[in-house]
Amino acid sequence: MALSRLQVVLLGAILPLLFFSPAEAGEVGVNYGRVANDLPEPASVVQLLKRNGITMVRLYDTNPKVLTALANTGIKVVVMLPNENLAVAAADPSYALQWARSNVAAYYPATKIHAVDVGNEVFDSRPDLTPQLVPAMTNVQAALAKLGLDAAVKVSTPIAFTAVKDTFPPSSGRFREDIAQSVMKPMLDFLQRTDSYLLVNPYPFFAYADHPDKISLDYALGNPNPGVRDDNTGLMYYSLLDAMLDATYFAMDKLTESLNIRQPIGRRFTRVQAYVTESGWPSGGKRKHGKLQHSGGMSLEAGDGSQAASVANAQAYNNNLINRVLSGKTGTPHRPNADMHVYIFALFNENQKGEGPDDIEANFGLFYPNMQKVYEFDFHGGGALTESWCVANASVGDAWLQAALDYACGHGADCSAIQPGAPCFEPNTKVAHASYAFNSYYQRNGKANGTCDFAGAAYIVYDEPAGKCDPNASWCVANEAVGDARLQAALDYACSHGADCSAIQPGGTCFEPNTKVAHASYAFNSYYQRNGRARGTCDFAGAASVVYQRPKYGNCVLPSKAWIQLEETTAKSEGYAAI
Ligand SMILES: *[C@@H]1O[C@H](CO)[C@@H](O)[C@H](O)[C@H]1NC(C)=O
Ligand SMILES: *[C@@H]1O[C@H](CO)[C@@H](O)[C@H](O)[C@H]1NC(C)=O
Ligand SMILES: *[C@@H]1O[C@H](CO)[C@@H](O)[C@H](O)[C@H]1NC(C)=O
Repeated sequence: MALSRLQVVLLGAILPLLFFSPAEAGEVGVNYGRVANDLPEPASVVQLLKRNGITMVRLYDTNPKVLTALANTGIKVVVMLPNENLAVAAADPSYALQWARSNVAAYYPATKIHAVDVGNEVFDSRPDLTPQLVPAMTNVQAALAKLGLDAAVKVSTPIAFTAVKDTFPPSSGRFREDIAQSVMKPMLDFLQRTDSYLLVNPYPFFAYADHPDKISLDYALGNPNPGVRDDNTGLMYYSLLDAMLDATYFAMDKLTESLNIRQPIGRRFTRVQAYVTESGWPSGGKRKHGKLQHSGGMSLEAGDGSQAASVANAQAYNNNLINRVLSGKTGTPHRPNADMHVYIFALFNENQKGEGPDDIEANFGLFYPNMQKVYEFDFHGGGALTESWCVANASVGDAWLQAALDYACGHGADCSAIQPGAPCFEPNTKVAHASYAFNSYYQRNGKANGTCDFAGAAYIVYDEPAGKCDPNASWCVANEAVGDARLQAALDYACSHGADCSAIQPGGTCFEPNTKVAHASYAFNSYYQRNGRARGTCDFAGAASVVYQRPKYGNCVLPSKAWIQLEETTAKSEGYAAI
């Protein structure tokens, strides 16, 4: 298609806008750890990253297969000089140069390496190497400069959050005495001089797990919560991650203050930003060791926190973090203008981490090794998967609800389904009708701030309300009259053509009642919902028909929705339970 001159001019005007990233202030990547013997080939992993919109990846080495697979993908890559090589890199600039040449320059720019981590959590995992850390960083940076790569590839080192003490309130944060003056000060000098970043690995999970009695779970997860005040500064904190980052920023401030000569502005550390190289939440497992390893050494007592390791919590934490960064809310209360780059730990569940598969350490993955998601998440931005609903608050009374209901229905809410005779008229209560109208208004306004208030008559919930009425709901059920043989044939067809039949296997939630008609209904309905209730997907040669009242077989309730829609068909393989 030939473009007209006008179109060319318009494209010229629009393209720069399209390529300007509004999320300039933050980007989210993943940690591609490989402490496992069952992970897919790097080439498949790179496809997985691309399918899921993951634009940054951090490695724990410079594996040639991985770096080659990442070539020409546009994915930004952080590589690591492992702790084992740190002493020699510190002692020998020519080793550092050779390392940088064969592990960075050899792949750049086809593989978009943009940072080198020199060592990993050195203070904790190899304290003996602590004195060598800054010299090694200096040599690697000098080597990159020699190769002309120092502007494109930044050098830093991830530190465990145990480097920061007195983390609450955040304003009392300071670096551990044994490293503050001897290591952190020269490191921050180096980072500031080279326009690099301080890298920290804060894990609200471990802080919460040490103090489930003192820390609210919502605050740790980044869910809406009443907030925690730092009485020294008056700053309010609504996320433990923010509090941990600010403890780090305050620790940096203290180092600046502790300099005994007056520092010109350029030598203060206020220009250095703290980025998150690792953060995440386990989806299961038990806590076996390292209880205090990540938490900043906050306590010696307390429970083991294993119960907080759950799919729901991991999903909430990681989605909150991803959505927050992608929405551009990267500042912290103390550093409101700070950028925040984050790498989620980790891409996969790694079966050789920790002490066996039921160790939480082996359960931080976003994906199982077979590349299925452990839970739903979305790196594309917009937070579409953090669903929320608006519901009426019964305690404001019917008069108030009626006024708000009138307002919503008169200002864009679709109230047709709650009229007499329409599918959501029942239950005919003020609170049910108001909830329906408020939620319609809220969803139609894109869940914008302030669109679920109605002068206090409404509030937002993050679990789908039990009584929520879907005016378009329909289900597909088996027709018993066709007989067991035809039902069985249709059942086999549905299960082998995309229906999720896991729930009707022995032990599954819908195995009982163990009848042909119940099992077939389950399978037919799954097929129907997964095909978007399209015409013709509830027939099975006359063995099935559509109903508009929710069917129930014993304790088995047929879902009225398919699984969350994914753009990638490959990710749709079974394992996604219908919801
Ligand atoms: C519901 O309204 C009552 C009375 O106005 C208020 O005290 C309460 O906090 C509200 N509940 C929610 C969840 O907003
Ligand atoms: C939403 O509104 C609340 C209360 O008015 C405010 O504190 C918050 O910053 C707003 N959020 C956004 C993203 O505008
Ligand atoms: C119900 O279906 C109609 C027609 O397809 C659509 O316009 C409407 O938005 C749907 N309502 C809901 C609540 O999904």
